[in-house]
Amino acid sequence: MATRTKSRSSTRNSRNTNDNRSAFTWGDNAGPLIGAALAGVVIGVAANFGRKALMQGIESTAGDWDEILATEHEMALAIFDKMLATDETQGFKRKMLLMKLTHALDKHAHQEEMVVYPALREAGIKVEADQLETEHGEVKTYLYRLQEMGPESPNWLETVREFRAAVSQHAHMEEEQVFPNFKRDLNEEQDARITSLVNRDGFWMA
Ligand SMILES: [Fe+2]
Ligand SMILES: [Fe+2]
Repeated sequence: MATRTKSRSSTRNSRNTNDNRSAFTWGDNAGPLIGAALAGVVIGVAANFGRKALMQGIESTAGDWDEILATEHEMALAIFDKMLATDETQGFKRKMLLMKLTHALDKHAHQEEMVVYPALREAGIKVEADQLETEHGEVKTYLYRLQEMGPESPNWLETVREFRAAVSQHAHMEEEQVFPNFKRDLNEEQDARITSLVNRDGFWMA
């Protein structure tokens, strides 16, 4: 509301003091329109922030960083299963599911690449961190390939099946091997710090 009032009064002031308007000057009735547009932006930002806050709230209750990431693995694999349950007549559904998968994997990879993998390297677990990050590149290659071949391609299902197996293997390496090895040497404070950073990164990527 403050933005709206400010916009109206500043438009009114400039109208009173400046008679030589440029081609870019708004018309006489533009004040309320600009105010309404700005109010819309404010509401939009607030709504988006509310959505993010909700996501954050959900993630905050989801446990430690490794549990959050394991839950996200399960969610991604569940999207793969929905994709595998489609046939070539369901092009729209396949496109929607691919979009959902892309968003989920992008957010997940960002959290790992910006927080967890750097923390692994700092702890001397460099080879594994580099291998995992290279595999994220392969994930993006699969997403690109699926996007380019289109949902009606005869190779679509086979590619999704192969892609799922690669993601499952990658998630398994993280959950069963790399993350527990790393977590074992963290004290409570370090563990909580990584959880906080993963939550914060996920918040902005949601
Ligand atoms: Fe990963
Ligand atoms: Fe992961």
